[in-house]
Amino acid sequence: MIKDLFIRKTLSELEEQADGNHNALKRHLNAMNLVLLGIGCVIGAGIFVLTGTAAANHAGPAIALSFVISATGCMLAGLCYAEFSSMIPVAGSAYTYGYATMGEFIAWIIGWDLILEYLFGSATVAVGWSGYVVSFLNDFGIHLPASICQSPFIFDATGWHASGAIINFPAVFIVGIMTTLLIIGIKESAKFNNIIVLVKVTVILLFIGFGISHIQIENWQPFIPENTGISGQFGWSGILTGAAVVFFAYIGFDAVSTASQEAINPKRDMPIGILVSLAVCTILYIAVSLVLTGIVNYKDLNVSAPIAVAIDTAGQSLFWLRPIIKIGAIAGLSSVVLVLLMGQSRIFFTMASDGLLWKSFAKTHSKFKTPHVTTIVTGLFAAFFAGLFPIGLLGELVSIGTLLAFVIVCIGIIILRKSEPDVPRGFRTPWVPLVPILGAMVCLAQMASLPADTWLRLIGWMLVGFLIYFFYGRKHSHARLARKNQK
Ligand code: ALA
Repeated sequence: MIKDLFIRKTLSELEEQADGNHNALKRHLNAMNLVLLGIGCVIGAGIFVLTGTAAANHAGPAIALSFVISATGCMLAGLCYAEFSSMIPVAGSAYTYGYATMGEFIAWIIGWDLILEYLFGSATVAVGWSGYVVSFLNDFGIHLPASICQSPFIFDATGWHASGAIINFPAVFIVGIMTTLLIIGIKESAKFNNIIVLVKVTVILLFIGFGISHIQIENWQPFIPENTGISGQFGWSGILTGAAVVFFAYIGFDAVSTASQEAINPKRDMPIGILVSLAVCTILYIAVSLVLTGIVNYKDLNVSAPIAVAIDTAGQSLFWLRPIIKIGAIAGLSSVVLVLLMGQSRIFFTMASDGLLWKSFAKTHSKFKTPHVTTIVTGLFAAFFAGLFPIGLLGELVSIGTLLAFVIVCIGIIILRKSEPDVPRGFRTPWVPLVPILGAMVCLAQMASLPADTWLRLIGWMLVGFLIYFFYGRKHSHARLARKNQK
């Protein structure tokens, strides 16, 4: 019975499934599309919304160092992801890797946990999108009523409160638009993504390029503000807490791996997609955070649109950049919502193809060849959470869920080297087991710095997942049924 829980899918089963599946998705993404897909998913609410508050509350100008620490954990986990995705070119991301290495039950845990990353992640970014749109419209004298632009619930240190608002309508709206795009087709979506990535990277480069001459060196002094006596408030502990907060900004590079089944040459291009997008974003983030804290004193950055504040502080000469930055942020956040929704629908699709979720989730649209059922289900849930819940609460859940998935992927590489040593890989994680062990440790350290109630929510979420697995997934698992028939 216990052994049963750890039933594994062999690599050949996985490849067969990818190639012979009647519902096979179309392969038309090249390396460049994958890099852009990664950047499209990574640069979003993290840099445009969270950087300011993380600098103001935790790290000061040393938020740049927080970005370095967080990137290190992501890079180490990314190296593990790259090996997995170059040898298991099937949709499903860490879930699929878990199935091949640690067995069905762990795969289920990862798949269920990834819902926190993708589904809740898309909802979080949709809420950030709503904030930028409302502020952009305000600049033009269009004032949407607060009652339809905010979460009806507020969660703070004293618990839950009603905000007086009814729904965050713009957040629901963007989820609806992106869901429709995904149903129409991944190719069209990839083109749309490429254009938006270009816009947001240009906007960030404009900010860095024009902002650099407005840096006041005294804003960087002291670079690491003294700790206030409370752990996590400046000093080195503040830099670490800052790293856990800005971790959100890196989430998404692994979404590239969920598109394996749609990549033309997954063995070569998956690692390129993951590592190059991560490297580009890391460089941009460090540069943005240095320019930001150089223009504005970190104490004045506890705002929802820190980059816009920096431009205002720089003076009249940069005012022309203000609407451009907001449009860039709005476009940037849209593409993150798109890629996260896509990742989630592909994970549901794969879990259903394995029999662990309901059969209808594995259907593809006859004309568009997209997994329309899972896309619609994902869209409905994302819209629900985006419409009702505040960004902070959603964001913390996303971080803890993603960090857990990273830890499992790192451990999985060590297991895979033992269980499948001879299977050819397009890419090998260097220095195994050092890299995966360090990766798991950096991610665990970040998890540890998140608050206790976030841990409780993670545990509650996992318990719901266990119920579904034991009452449904386990009974309908194709791998288990196939083994039974063989006996
Ligand atoms: N990394 C993504 C963002 O910053 C989730 O919005």
